[in-house]
Parts: sequence; structure tokens; C-alpha cells
Amino acid sequence: MYPTVSKSLPLSLLALASVSLADDNAESVSTLSFKNAFVNSGIVPEVIPALDPAVSFYATYKTEGDSNHSELLIPGSSLTVNEISTLPIEFSVENLNNATNITAQTRYLIYLLDADAPARSNPTARNLRHWLAGNFTLNGQNSSVLSTAQRLARPPNSGAPFTNFTAPKPDANSGVHRYIMALYTQPARFNTAGFESVGMEREVANWNLSRWRTQLGLGPAIGATYFVIDTGANGGNGTSAPQGLNNQGGNGGNNNNAGGQGGDTDTNAAAGIKASSVYVLGLTALAAVFGGLIMV
Ligand SMILES: *[C@@H]1O[C@H](CO)[C@@H](O)[C@H](O)[C@H]1NC(C)=O
Ligand SMILES: *[C@@H]1O[C@H](CO)[C@@H](O)[C@H](O)[C@H]1NC(C)=O
Ligand SMILES: *[C@@H]1O[C@H](CO)[C@@H](O)[C@H](O)[C@H]1NC(C)=O
Ligand SMILES: *[C@@H]1O[C@H](CO)[C@@H](O)[C@H](O)[C@H]1NC(C)=O
Ligand SMILES: *[C@@H]1O[C@H](CO)[C@@H](O)[C@H](O)[C@H]1NC(C)=O
Ligand SMILES: *[C@@H]1O[C@H](CO)[C@@H](O)[C@H](O)[C@H]1NC(C)=O
Ligand SMILES: *[C@@H]1O[C@H](CO)[C@@H](O)[C@H](O)[C@H]1NC(C)=O
Ligand SMILES: *[C@@H]1O[C@H](CO)[C@@H](O)[C@H](O)[C@H]1NC(C)=O
Repeated sequence: MYPTVSKSLPLSLLALASVSLADDNAESVSTLSFKNAFVNSGIVPEVIPALDPAVSFYATYKTEGDSNHSELLIPGSSLTVNEISTLPIEFSVENLNNATNITAQTRYLIYLLDADAPARSNPTARNLRHWLAGNFTLNGQNSSVLSTAQRLARPPNSGAPFTNFTAPKPDANSGVHRYIMALYTQPARFNTAGFESVGMEREVANWNLSRWRTQLGLGPAIGATYFVIDTGANGGNGTSAPQGLNNQGGNGGNNNNAGGQGGDTDTNAAAGIKASSVYVLGLTALAAVFGGLIMV
């Protein structure tokens, strides 16, 4: 129904082409555009060594100020803290038949992490896991904002998420944070057992993705997307908005929203990180050196 964004368009034109993301104007994004957005944002290779998505992976979120307005999250979308104070209202995929070893019964897992905790200029807690849940399946419906995208949902009796959602509340003036959501096919053993069954730990900070993938026996992500939260300049590296597919102003109030969040750290997942980062302060230079080596 909606045209797929042409793969041959340069990203600058793609940005213009996707001016509006409101309900009625959501457009498909090609897997190549996802791949390019991850490179242009620096996520590849800074956070993960590569992304070669088989599927286009989307989330849908409620925009701030109008609780009934849904918007398609595409790579590089800029969100306010309020807009991600709850989980996205739905996840969806296009091009699923391009993923290998998929059946109608296949289950999927999804995570949300902050690659830039506590700041991109000094990411001593990279990666900070905000959410991890398995047992997603196609639920037979299509996305409420993109009719060609098939919805993924967790059926009843899926068990609790391995990591319950904690709302991103990045420190004020800690620059632009890149939040990654990735989709993997779930090895069949986890259809009846949680990730703890293979020894996965609950600790959310310094989550080593490559070690985790090996531990769970996962292939590469079949899709991934990201959004940013701009907390304002932190006077160091990472203060400029990364180049994704879109950085248009259509989201309304998409920056400096974290200004009031600074004192709020006792309730969020980053609180423990702040304390622990005091300990590693002396290792900052070392961390910076090794930062480039952190891989999926
Ligand atoms: C299909 O998936 C592969 C990765 O598994 C990817 O390289 C390729 O670009 C995808 N094709 C399309 C049309 O999205
Ligand atoms: C929200 O939007 C839906 C679909 O457009 C509509 O059916 C519903 O009445 C709206 N709810 C409110 C509270 O405006
Ligand atoms: C739902 O999405 C699938 C896959 O893109 C498509 O084949 C189907 O026509 C869609 N259904 C509706 C009702 O749009
Ligand atoms: C996640 O939340 C559920 C429901 O509140 C709870 O039962 C479960 O223990 C929580 N999981 C963790 C790891 O805290
Ligand atoms: C295909 O998926 C099934 C179920 O998750 C798994 O047991 C099997 O090892 C997979 N095969 C390949 C070749 O990845
Ligand atoms: C999937 O759901 C089953 C129950 O249906 C549960 O036993 C299992 O732990 C869940 N797996 C994950 C990864 O959440
Ligand atoms: C992540 O784990 C792998 C082993 O799977 C290890 O080689 C790598 O050094 C670890 N990365 C970090 C940053 O600790
Ligand atoms: C910012 O840091 C990244 C690695 O984290 C590095 O690749 C890049 O060159 C740095 N940019 C500047 C302007 O220092």
C-alpha cells in the first residue's frame, strides 16, 4: 500500500522523503536503509561490529502532548523521555520471509539498551539493558500505523520479561544517547525455559552482547532499530545528533527534555550505574581506549 523507500536514494534524500511520521504518513524503510542508519549513527562499529538486517523492524510509540497519537519509530527517531516512559505500544516487522529458518511458530526476543550510558563520551556502562523479553510471535495483526508490517506480541502465559522495562532517564547534559532495540529469532529451548537456564545474569550494566549471543546460542539480529534522546551538550564527544534516517522536527519537543530528570536517579536503572561509575572514574582513560573494542 505504501511505497518502499527506494534503496538507491542517498540518505539525505531519504530524510526529506520521510518528512512526516504521523499515523497516516508512515512509510516502509528498506533493510538497506536500516543498515545505513546504523553506520551513519556510529553504532556500527562503535557498539556492534555489523548489522545486516533481514527484516525491517519497527516500534510504534505515543507522541508527547497527545496521548492518542501513534507514530512509527524508524531508525534515528528522536524521542523525549516522556515518549519512552512506557514500552512502545507495538512492535512490527516487514520482509519476514527474508529471514532464514522462520516458521509460523517461530518465537522472537527483543531488547532495548542504552549504548551511551552514562554518556557517549565516556560510556563506562555500555551497554545498559533497559528491557529484554522473549516469546514474541506474530499475532496475526498488522501494525496500526504501517499496514504492511506484521505485529509481534507476547501471548498470554509468556512468562515475565527477563529484564523488566525501566524507563530511560539519561542524565541531563550527558549528550545524545542512542537506544537500540534489536530482534532475534529465539532458539527453541527458550520456548519452555528462561534465559537464566543457560546462566544469563540479571546485571543490566556493561552488558556484553557478543558474550550473551554465544551464551544463548543466538544468530545475528534479524532486525534492529534505534532512537535517540538528546539530553543537551555535555561538552565532550557525542554531543552532536547522530545521523540516522530522520532528525526532522516532527516529533515536537525532541530535545533537552531530560533537564528535569537529573535528580530522579534513585528510581531508574542508571542510578546504580552512576555510583559504580565513580569507582571506574580512574579507569576512564582505559575505558575510552577499550571502548572501541566492545562488540556485539
Ligand atoms: C535479506 O536478508 C539478508 C541478511 O540475512 C540481507 O543481506 C538482505 O539485504 C535482505 N534482503 C532484503 C531484500 O531485505
Ligand atoms: C484514539 O484514537 C482511536 C483511533 O483513531 C479512536 O477510536 C479513539 O476514540 C481515540 N481515543 C480518544 C480518547 O481520543
Ligand atoms: C498484513 O501484512 C502482510 C505482510 O506485509 C500483507 O501481506 C497483508 O496484506 C497485510 N494485511 C492487511 C489487512 O493489510
Ligand atoms: C518483573 O516484573 C514481574 C511482574 O511485576 C515480576 O513478577 C518479576 O519478578 C519481575 N522480574 C524481575 C527480574 O524483577
Ligand atoms: C532452526 O530453528 C530451530 C528452532 O528454533 C532450531 O532448533 C534449529 O537449530 C534452527 N536451524 C538452523 C539451521 O538454524
Ligand atoms: C516462554 O514462555 C514459557 C511459558 O509459556 C516459559 O516457560 C519460558 O520461560 C518463556 N521463555 C522466555 C525466554 O521468556
Ligand atoms: C565481550 O565478551 C567477549 C567474549 O565473548 C570478549 O572477547 C570481549 O573482550 C568482551 N568485551 C568486553 C568489552 O568485555
Ligand atoms: C567520538 O568518539 C568516537 C568513538 O567513541 C570516535 O570514533 C570519534 O572519532 C570521536 N569524535 C571526536 C570528534 O572526537
